[in-house]
Amino acid sequence: MNISVEKTLAEQSILTAEQVVAAFAEVRAQAETDLRGVSNEKQFEEFRNHWLGRKSGVVTKITDNWLKQAPTDLKKSVGQEFNKFKTALEALIEERRVGIEAGAEEAASAKDRVDLSLPGVMRALGSRHLIRQVFQEIEDIFFSIGFSVVEGPEIETPYYNFEALNIPEFHPVRDDMDTFYMELPPSSGGKAAPGQLLLRTHTSPMQIRTMEKQKPPVRVIVPGRVYRRDNPDATHSFAFHQVEGLAVDTDITFCDFTGTIEYFVKQFFGPSVKTRFRPSYFPFTEPSVEFDVSCVFCGGSGTTSSGTCGKCKGAGWIELFGAGMVDPAVYGFVGYDPKKVSGFAFGIGIDRLAMLKYGIDDIQAFFQNDVRFLKQFP
Ligand code: DAH
Repeated sequence: MNISVEKTLAEQSILTAEQVVAAFAEVRAQAETDLRGVSNEKQFEEFRNHWLGRKSGVVTKITDNWLKQAPTDLKKSVGQEFNKFKTALEALIEERRVGIEAGAEEAASAKDRVDLSLPGVMRALGSRHLIRQVFQEIEDIFFSIGFSVVEGPEIETPYYNFEALNIPEFHPVRDDMDTFYMELPPSSGGKAAPGQLLLRTHTSPMQIRTMEKQKPPVRVIVPGRVYRRDNPDATHSFAFHQVEGLAVDTDITFCDFTGTIEYFVKQFFGPSVKTRFRPSYFPFTEPSVEFDVSCVFCGGSGTTSSGTCGKCKGAGWIELFGAGMVDPAVYGFVGYDPKKVSGFAFGIGIDRLAMLKYGIDDIQAFFQNDVRFLKQFP
């Protein structure tokens, strides 16, 4: 800036109104240039002090040296120009102040900003266990023909697990179902000790619990885990899974029974499989049967390209599960009238079914939770 605010206008030979206008234009241009260099709050404060500082700011100096010292004939134009300049300067300063504050806010929020577009931490997603998937398949099939799903306790009383299913104490069939009994703490506070408890050996106790709660018609399936004192090998495990089925009504026949089972087996294994049943024995069904399915590996022929089918050992049939018409004695335990109602029940071993359908040859694979196994059934 050539012009000085330290000196009077006259000292700088500014004698006309045009020269006054030019002088103020020069000061204003200087202010604008200075302001462009202001980019933070500290510089802004310095700028403000330099220009607007009460004691020695440029504006004060212009007032003292230019305005107050102006000769009478120039006073008016100096006054006018001075007012214009002050208004313009204040506007410029205000504009810059807003800009700087916004910038400071932006910088602060940029510091703590959460970037929502950043990919998150990807957790490995698991999938449902194959046994769960097979439960679901079976539930869907029975659901489609009017059954509902109920679940029951894994810790049972001998009454539900055995007696009410027509298996009295010392009945030899209990040997097959030897299980784990709970050691219960001694009674405390005068309360009677709960009776003996055991890990259920089958899902059949839920037949009793369901019929106790509801009058016929009954159509339920019961998926669940069961326990037996079996030594682990490729086909045995101390814990395994079953789906129990029970249908009781006033007019259920053996035909309804076999038709339902056949429908289920075809839905599960495919329409080309055949079913057959053989007489069997269960204390809670009469008659009792064992259902077989034509071997899903050799198509029921008993042979494969490499000779005798290893899965059905040449029989062409694979044993599937036990079932039967509900023994009238069972109705006696739940207050149903055996003369009025009839029904059927079945108990499907799920691990075995899954092994057959998915070609798994060791039941232990279901319990080891080896990710390499689980990943094959996403
Ligand atoms: N509860 C039997 C078992 O675990 C299976 C079974 C057989 C269930 C016949 C039934 C049935 O409901 O009718 O060996």
